[in-house]
Amino acid sequence: MTRLPVLPFAFFGFLMFATSLLASESGPKLQVSEFGRTSDGVSIYRYVLSNNKGVEAVVISYGATLVSLKVPDRNGKAADIVLGYDNLDGYEQGKSYFGATIGRYGNRIARGEFTLDGTLFRLPKNDGPNSLHGGIRGFNKRVWTAVDRSRAGAQVLELSYTSLDGEEGYPGTLKVKVTYTLPAETSELRIDYTATTDRDTVVNLTNHSYFNLSGDLSKEIVEHQLLLQAPQFTPVDSTLIPTGELRAVRGTPFDFTKPAVIGARIDQDDEQLKFGKGYDHNWVLAKAEKTGPRLAAEVFDPTSGRVLQVLTTEPGIQFYSGNFLDGTAKGKGGQLYAHRTGFCLETQHFPDSPNHPNFPSTVLKPGETYRTSTVLRFSSRK
Ligand code: GLA
Repeated sequence: MTRLPVLPFAFFGFLMFATSLLASESGPKLQVSEFGRTSDGVSIYRYVLSNNKGVEAVVISYGATLVSLKVPDRNGKAADIVLGYDNLDGYEQGKSYFGATIGRYGNRIARGEFTLDGTLFRLPKNDGPNSLHGGIRGFNKRVWTAVDRSRAGAQVLELSYTSLDGEEGYPGTLKVKVTYTLPAETSELRIDYTATTDRDTVVNLTNHSYFNLSGDLSKEIVEHQLLLQAPQFTPVDSTLIPTGELRAVRGTPFDFTKPAVIGARIDQDDEQLKFGKGYDHNWVLAKAEKTGPRLAAEVFDPTSGRVLQVLTTEPGIQFYSGNFLDGTAKGKGGQLYAHRTGFCLETQHFPDSPNHPNFPSTVLKPGETYRTSTVLRFSSRK
């Protein structure tokens, strides 16, 4: 007869108990599944963050991309309010940056060139004469490492990526972290960005979600009402590079300091609107009174009652009205995303800052930590 070894069992039991304690202290774990494999065979994972307010956010480790965001309407009915694709191939082939983390430099750099510490750096030109959203293979087309950092009271996903010195023409090895936090009892999704470098560089990180608060991703967003806490915007040339001027919005179709319907003035005979084929500009946000994210934008969809507030620590916000969507991008459920069926509110430093000494600086030096935060807050009203 074999005697059962009691000690190992007791030890195993204790281990189980200890892990369950740890698990409850670290909060409910994220639901994770495989999303697919990249064309070169790397597994990509899909993480579901959900809370008690009916909010559910899904993020994948490819591009640290927000692929789905479900929030309730005025009747409590949840629907997905962001554009995206059904599968990884969509994100690998896609050209619209749906939901992606953008870097190393969000928005445009004129002629794909900037000078830093007396050295000229050349970047790939992927948007006419300019470099857009980090180049040909920006952070949106990279595989990130994801770690579940959920804790009591919040589901948390931390994604890291190391961008090598010289990648897409940028100097310095940049270690980036993007953290998505969904509190259990609050209807908001927080995105925190940090970065460090081993050599002087420039950084401008953002998220490129396209929202359609109606939850019907085939409908235009032009009836949504927009408020921007921004007294000025940065006018652009015909290639969407800022001229350097900070122009008052008052008396122009760029004045959203009081809520206005997005489509009301979008087709006016205005040179700036012609350059953007609608809105595709950076607004200069009102100065923050205290530290931490302050209200930058609020959007209301009268049909569903959904309200999105965007709070940020950033000095600027790109409001893009989906002018380049042309019905060719095949999105979720086979939907072809047509002109202006989504809008972006990209919290950021101003476009082309490395070539504009009068704009807030985007330079990051060794020993410093880049730190910005953006909060998407959801509610509804009649
Ligand atoms: C940004 C740019 C737009 C466009 C989109 C992606 O918002 O400002 O001009 O390039 O990205 O299509």
